[in-house]
Amino acid sequence: MTEQQWLNRLSEALLGGLNRAEGDPHRPGWHIAAPVGLLNDPNGFIQFDGRYRLFYQWNPLACAHGAKAWGQLVSDDLVHWQHLGLALAPTEDYERNGCYSGSAVDNNGELTLIYTGNVKYDRERRTAFQCLAVEREFGEFEKLGPVLDLPEGYTGHVRDPKVWRHDGHWWMVLAAQSEDGQGKVLLYRSADLHHWQQLGVLAGSREQGLDEFGYMWECPDLFELDGRHVLICCPQGLPAEADRYRNLYQCGWLAGELDWHSGRLAHGDFHELDLGFEFYAPQTTLDDQGRRLLIGWLGLPDDNEPAQPTRDYGWMNQLSCPRVLSWRQGKLYQNPVPELAALRGEAFDWQGLAVQAPRLQGGRAELELVISGEVRLYLGQAAVLTVNAGGLELRRLNWRSGEWESRRRHGPVTDLRLLLDSSSIELFINEGEAAMSARYFPGANPEIRWGGAGETRFRYWPLAPVLRSS
Ligand code: FRU
Repeated sequence: MTEQQWLNRLSEALLGGLNRAEGDPHRPGWHIAAPVGLLNDPNGFIQFDGRYRLFYQWNPLACAHGAKAWGQLVSDDLVHWQHLGLALAPTEDYERNGCYSGSAVDNNGELTLIYTGNVKYDRERRTAFQCLAVEREFGEFEKLGPVLDLPEGYTGHVRDPKVWRHDGHWWMVLAAQSEDGQGKVLLYRSADLHHWQQLGVLAGSREQGLDEFGYMWECPDLFELDGRHVLICCPQGLPAEADRYRNLYQCGWLAGELDWHSGRLAHGDFHELDLGFEFYAPQTTLDDQGRRLLIGWLGLPDDNEPAQPTRDYGWMNQLSCPRVLSWRQGKLYQNPVPELAALRGEAFDWQGLAVQAPRLQGGRAELELVISGEVRLYLGQAAVLTVNAGGLELRRLNWRSGEWESRRRHGPVTDLRLLLDSSSIELFINEGEAAMSARYFPGANPEIRWGGAGETRFRYWPLAPVLRSS
C-alpha cells in the first residue's frame, strides 16, 4: 500500500471505529489500548526532551496481526497519555509485511527509531532489515531505510532491535534464530547508528551453559541495574514444567555480567517476569530520575487473542501499567510507578474477617492488602484470587474455552497490591517480588466479593478513567 492508501484506510477505520471502541464496557480506563484495531508490543519507549514517548505495534485496519504500523503516544507523567496517531506505516518494499518492533534513542537531540522491516516471500520464507527513522517535526518521522541485513547463519527471523548508548558507542541487542532453529540474542556495536558490527552471541538456547531453550527469543532488552546486567527476553518453545512456563510463550530475565568485547553475557538462571496469563514483549527505558521503567503487552500472540470479546467493538489488547524495576536480594522486583497514585479517588480502609468484608466496585480500582489465613477475592465472577499460607493462586475464566484455568505462586505472601481496569488484572506480590497479570472479561459493573476463613486488612481506591474519551 502507498502512504496515501494507508492514510485513507486509517481515516476510514478511525471514523467508523472510535465511538464503537470507546463504547465497550471492557475498554480500559487508564491503560493504553489502540484507538481501533489490534495493538501488541510496546516500542520505542524513551524520555525525550523531558517527555515520555511511547510507540506500539499497531494494526489499525483489522483486529488481527498483519503488516504492522507504529502508533505513538506522549505523556508528561506516565499517567495521562495523548495519542499522536501513526508514526510509521509499512509503505516501503523493505518493510512491506510490517514495521516490526524496535526502540528509540536520542541521537544528539534527534529522536531516532530503530525497527525491523519485515518481508515475507511466502508462508515459509521471509527476510528482515533493521531500519532507521528520524523525527523531523514533532510526531513526524522520516524513514532512512535499512542499515542492517540478515546476519549469516540465521533464518529470516531476525528482529526487535533494542539500542542504547554506552561508553561513546551505540549498542544493539537483536533477536535471531540460528539456521539450526535455536533462539539467540546477538550483540552489535556502532559509531553512528548506520554501520553495525556484530560482536557475538550475547545469550540464547545452547549458549552460555544453557541447554535447549527455545526456537526464538523475541524482544530482547539489556540494561544495567544496580551493578549487573539484566537481559529481558521472550523465549518461544519452552515446554511447560509443573507451575513454570505455563503460557504459550515465555517472558523472563537473566542476570549476569556482560563482556563488552566478546559480546557474551555470563548469566544465571532464567526467571519468569510475570507469573500470570498474559505478559509479553516488554520494553524498558531509563528516565531522568535514574529509574529503569518497564512497560509490557498484556497479551500473548497465537493463543486466545482471536476469541477476545472486544473484537466485536473493533479493538484488541492493551499494555501493562508502567512499572519501575529494582534489584533486591538477588531478584528483579517490579512495582507500578508511583505516579499512578494520581488516579486514586477517596481511600476506604477496612479490617476484619474476610467473609464480613464489604463488596467493592471492581471495575477500575486499586487494593493494597495484607492477609492472614485463607482469603479469596472473587473478581466479577471471571477471576478468583486465593491466598493462604502456602502461596497464591489466580484463577480466571478462559474466554476461548469457557473453562477455568489457574496460575500459582508458592511461598509466603506478606502483602499484595491489586490493580484492576475493566478487563485487566495486575497483581504485585511482596512489594514487587513477583507479579501476575491477566486479562479477564467480567460482566457489567463487576464487584469484588470476599470469601475464605481468614482475615484481611485493606485500603481500597476507585481509579479514575483518565484515558477514556467518553
Ligand atoms: C512479539 C513480536 C515481535 C515482532 C512483533 C510483530 O510479539 O512477534 O517479535 O517484532 O511482535 O508485531
